[in-house]
Amino acid sequence: MLFPGLGLLLLVPSLSSATALFISSYAGTVTSLSLEESGGNYTLSEFAVSGDCGPNPSWLTLDANRGQLFCLNEGLNTVNGSLSSYTISSNGSLTHIQNTTTISGPVSGVIYGEPAGQRAIALAHYTGSAVSSWYLDGFGKLSFNQNLVFSLNETGPVADRQDSPHAHEAILDPTGQYVLVPDLGADLVRVFSFNEDLQLEELSSLRTTPGDGPRHAAFYNPYGVACYAVTYELDGSGLSFVRVYNSSTYGYLATPEGNAPSEILVSPDNRFLVVGNRNDSSLPVPNPNPNNSTNIDSDTISTFALNHDGSLSFVQLAPAYGSYPRHFSTNAIGNLVGVGLQHSGEVVVLERNVATGLIGPPVARFHIDGQITCVLFNEQYGLGRLGA
Ligand SMILES: *[C@@H]1O[C@H](CO)[C@@H](O)[C@H](O)[C@H]1NC(C)=O
Ligand SMILES: *[C@@H]1O[C@H](CO)[C@@H](O)[C@H](O)[C@H]1NC(C)=O
Ligand SMILES: *[C@@H]1O[C@H](CO)[C@@H](O)[C@H](O)[C@H]1NC(C)=O
Ligand SMILES: *[C@@H]1O[C@H](CO)[C@@H](O)[C@H](O)[C@H]1NC(C)=O
Ligand SMILES: *[C@@H]1O[C@H](CO)[C@@H](O)[C@H](O)[C@H]1NC(C)=O
Ligand SMILES: *[C@@H]1O[C@H](CO)[C@@H](O)[C@H](O)[C@H]1NC(C)=O
Ligand SMILES: *[C@@H]1O[C@H](CO)[C@@H](O)[C@H](O)[C@H]1NC(C)=O
Ligand SMILES: *[C@@H]1O[C@H](CO)[C@@H](O)[C@H](O)[C@H]1NC(C)=O
Ligand SMILES: *[C@@H]1O[C@H](CO)[C@@H](O)[C@H](O)[C@H]1NC(C)=O
Repeated sequence: MLFPGLGLLLLVPSLSSATALFISSYAGTVTSLSLEESGGNYTLSEFAVSGDCGPNPSWLTLDANRGQLFCLNEGLNTVNGSLSSYTISSNGSLTHIQNTTTISGPVSGVIYGEPAGQRAIALAHYTGSAVSSWYLDGFGKLSFNQNLVFSLNETGPVADRQDSPHAHEAILDPTGQYVLVPDLGADLVRVFSFNEDLQLEELSSLRTTPGDGPRHAAFYNPYGVACYAVTYELDGSGLSFVRVYNSSTYGYLATPEGNAPSEILVSPDNRFLVVGNRNDSSLPVPNPNPNNSTNIDSDTISTFALNHDGSLSFVQLAPAYGSYPRHFSTNAIGNLVGVGLQHSGEVVVLERNVATGLIGPPVARFHIDGQITCVLFNEQYGLGRLGA
């Protein structure tokens, strides 16, 4: 029964979204950009640049819940690489906490362990042919846990890149029990379990077709995995894989000569697979300079629909709006894709239709000095007004 005069309480949230993007560049910078939207128009503006990560930042790992960012310095011209930690202030600027020297060539990192307890970050080292692990204290402090260095018995078919193991990425499986590391040099996806001390132990790997050179991997959570169906051994002793699908990153289209696939991700709603194609220049786009009518070269981004059995249906080849989309990520909703164009020195934010998966033109773009290596969204929702 309603009390007369009380009526209904209507909450009209005018959700203000403060979105920051973090961008790493081989110029030695981690840039914080703010993305603002007004009446459907977006603008990107720079509000902080950090030079603390070292000369060659290659990858960023965000710990959004704890307001921390980890930056990997690949150390392209030094014997060692390094790992830096930052805290993220409420406006998105970064405060450097710690720097630690690592085996050479860290290119990707993932946090694993107890969500509310002891955690660590596992790094994949491309030139160092290794995986390393560093304990996290929850406040940005790092301490050494483990180095695992791999070797190859036989050189793989791709002579220049398969003469030694090249760990290229570290990801966590959807249950959080296993760390997986695509190894481009060894044609393996290495699988690791870990004990209470978060020491990694290598289990049996997924062996790809010789010469595949696996670079990045993504899990399709609810129904298995695109390309390989994964079975969890009941005794926790590892994962087994069966290949269910294989295709070029161009689906039924012709694959351009020299194509070098880059990033792979599953859309936040688990319905689409999105893959970057570098060095294809196949879809020129209008010049971003309105005074110049000459089109610019553009590489591409492929979208596939994920079928429940793990097979893929090709949806779209979209322009990346520049050259070498080395890394990209979406916002939490999935209606924006931030693309790091390594050879254009630009980050573009492309619109994306969440229902159809189709990627559209840029809503904003921003020049960053040097070669862009990683683009992440940091979204802080809330602090919206409640109108009653
Ligand atoms: C958005 O941009 C368009 C085109 O430049 C302009 O006409 C419109 O006034 C802008 N809207 C707002 C709210 O700024
Ligand atoms: C962190 O380490 C890298 C590599 O040694 C170095 O270039 C950078 O200046 C260091 N940052 C700080 C804040 O000491
Ligand atoms: C962001 O916050 C930090 C720490 O509170 C402050 O030092 C800095 O001036 C702020 N930057 C901007 C652009 O507001
Ligand atoms: C630095 O690199 C050397 C040579 O690869 C390696 O032996 C050493 O362990 C590295 N240092 C650290 C702290 O990882
Ligand atoms: C290398 O050879 C050893 C000894 O034969 C074998 O146990 C190991 O599995 C091989 N490693 C690879 C990556 O093939
Ligand atoms: C997988 O697909 C690619 C692209 O069509 C093809 O080149 C390759 O031979 C296929 N691999 C296998 C093992 O069927
Ligand atoms: C880019 O593609 C061309 C062929 O179009 C090829 O010759 C070249 O090696 C490729 N570059 C890279 C870095 O893959
Ligand atoms: C384009 O030309 C106009 C008129 O000359 C000039 O005001 C504007 O700055 C130019 N824009 C760019 C991006 O160069
Ligand atoms: C126009 O753009 C093209 C393609 O990027 C470039 O090669 C050319 O130099 C530009 N022209 C002028 C006048 O800036």
